[in-house]
Amino acid sequence: MTAPRLPRGVRVPDDVRRRFGRRLRAWFRANGRDLPWRRTRDPYRVLVSELMLQQTQVARVLERYDEFLREFPTLGTVARSRQARVMEAWEGLGYYARARNLHALARAVERGEGALPSDPGELRRLPGIGAYTAGAVASFAYERRAPLVDTNVARVLRRVFAPRLDPRSARGQQTLWAIAEAVLPRTGRATWVHNQAVMELGALICTARVARCDVCPVRDVCRSAKRDRAGRVA
Ligand code: ADE
Repeated sequence: MTAPRLPRGVRVPDDVRRRFGRRLRAWFRANGRDLPWRRTRDPYRVLVSELMLQQTQVARVLERYDEFLREFPTLGTVARSRQARVMEAWEGLGYYARARNLHALARAVERGEGALPSDPGELRRLPGIGAYTAGAVASFAYERRAPLVDTNVARVLRRVFAPRLDPRSARGQQTLWAIAEAVLPRTGRATWVHNQAVMELGALICTARVARCDVCPVRDVCRSAKRDRAGRVA
């Protein structure tokens, strides 16, 4: 697949891409949170975590993730269960369409290949799987070299590479996906770390409320980093 071309005004020079990636991944290895879905490559467990995390805080998901997986340890157990039971087990997480979709997806996979595909395009054909979730399962479960953009990733990439971009416009979204792809490392294994690291930076440092540029590992390459008059990061 050839990477989509970046629009005018958005530049990701090779040296910047390399420095961004290296620093980000080193930071994540030292500072990334030890979360249960980062300890598995089981596609079903990764999928459940990503569906839960879509609209729900990490702390709340941590309270419910293991319990849900105890009752439904595999996609097959979801497929063979009644929809109402899956919805009940989702209790407390809200946005029950996600549970309904998971049940429909489990049945669709059981009728078809029997396993979750690793290709983002194929994943997207399943019920409830959008571009983000497809990228997340491909990258986090199968270590495919797949880009992903959610609100955290969009904020980080926009601030670092394209501060004037409107992230709400279709064109802005397209550009963010193109940047996300352009900055991916070469191998799938490094991509796993890279994608987790961008999300983690957005969750812990480059937050919506405040950008903590003083402790940011990529401030040197960031086009939005707060700088003093001498150009030093504040
Ligand atoms: N939100 C969505 N996916 C996540 C992940 N893998 N780790 C932390 N937060 C997330």
